Amino acid sequence: MRSLKIGLIGTGFMGRTHSNAYAQVNKFFDHAIQPALTAVCATNAPKTAAFAAQWGWESVESDWRTLVNRPDIDVVDICTPNNTHCAIALAAAEAGKIIICEKPLAMNADEARRMVEAAEHSGQPTMVSFNYRRIPAVTLAKQLVDEGRLGRIFHYRAKYLQDWTINPNLPQGGNTLWRLDAQAAGSGVTGDLLAHSIDLALWLAGPIAQVTAMTETFIKERRLQDDPDTVKPVAIDDACAFLARFANGALGTFESTRYACGRKNQNTFEINGEKGSIAFDLENAHQLEYYNHADDGLVRGFRTIPVWDGNHPYMSHWWVPGCAIGYEHTFIHQVSDFLDGLERGEKRVPDLRDGYATQLVCDAVLASARTGMWQPAR
Ligand SMILES: NC(=O)c1ccc[n+]([C@@H]2O[C@H](COP(=O)([O-])OP(=O)(O)OC[C@H]3O[C@@H](n4cnc5c(N)ncnc54)[C@H](O)[C@@H]3O)[C@@H](O)[C@H]2O)c1
Repeated sequence: MRSLKIGLIGTGFMGRTHSNAYAQVNKFFDHAIQPALTAVCATNAPKTAAFAAQWGWESVESDWRTLVNRPDIDVVDICTPNNTHCAIALAAAEAGKIIICEKPLAMNADEARRMVEAAEHSGQPTMVSFNYRRIPAVTLAKQLVDEGRLGRIFHYRAKYLQDWTINPNLPQGGNTLWRLDAQAAGSGVTGDLLAHSIDLALWLAGPIAQVTAMTETFIKERRLQDDPDTVKPVAIDDACAFLARFANGALGTFESTRYACGRKNQNTFEINGEKGSIAFDLENAHQLEYYNHADDGLVRGFRTIPVWDGNHPYMSHWWVPGCAIGYEHTFIHQVSDFLDGLERGEKRVPDLRDGYATQLVCDAVLASARTGMWQPAR
């Protein structure tokens, strides 16, 4: 079995999901390549050492540049805040490494374009971590669309709702609240949440031609996490809603907020086509709603497909039909698909160029919210 030596940067939320995926993938999938947990890097040295011990990483670095340039590293996996992705990816491309990067790919489309150009120049495979594509119900949705079961698509309707920033006393910035700091995050819900919705929309319904958007920042000032006596304006978008025209003529509506009281991670989409519709909700992730207009009219209606049978995407690798899988499995599927691409010498998506396409839409959304004008999105 060939070893693929991983260098992971970032040991937070995503550092854990990615570490778990590398460790688990060949327990459930049978690849000729085995990821090796070769080196890990993060900002806090004692915490990084503890993380390495807990997850089985063989060595620890304190500077990502050292990790990126280590000759024994094959893959640089970027799980750090958004404002670090570009510099790390450019250095990794320069060093000839395979790049795996968390979403959003970058702070803006200009950074994303430079990352794509550098990676494509290096010739190494890449992947951007839009893991929701790898939920079996979402992969099944893609299969139904590709098989033509919906026919021509008229509508794409997406929501991504959370509620964790409602508290006005929540500070901004620092190690754990960098998502509220525009300097570290680039934007608010647009890059953090809508990037997922946009990626799924581009995958399922094709390119978005133009958008018109509005954003709002409900809590205008917050204390700094690292300096609680200092209060600063909040520069991120707390909520964003936009309309889209797809290149194929379909209409899209997208909404995201972190102020939807009670919604913890509700990521939904509904697609209405000439022959049928499908609908998905991450909070019921093993289900896909499907309506087939060709059904006998007496029994026609939305059906709920429990996507946990052996013939459903990925599911034959897990337990027995009827046993649900969860969030962490999306990352295992992502690594499995990527290893499969490496083994076959085939491109797997979403790669950095797909991440760039999403970033172009995010930039257009933010530009439209600023100008009040429709904006081209590709
Ligand atoms: N795919 C998804 O669904 C998903 C979910 C959450 C986060 N993300 C993305 O993953 C990335 C990381 O988010 P997170 O929630 O894991 O963040 P986090 O705050 O939990 O962890 C960030 C990690 O990066 C490290 N770090 C920060 N600056 C660094 C530097 N200069 N050098 C080395 N290490 C550094 C920190 O020490 C920490 O270990 C972000 O881009 C985020 O948007 C994606």
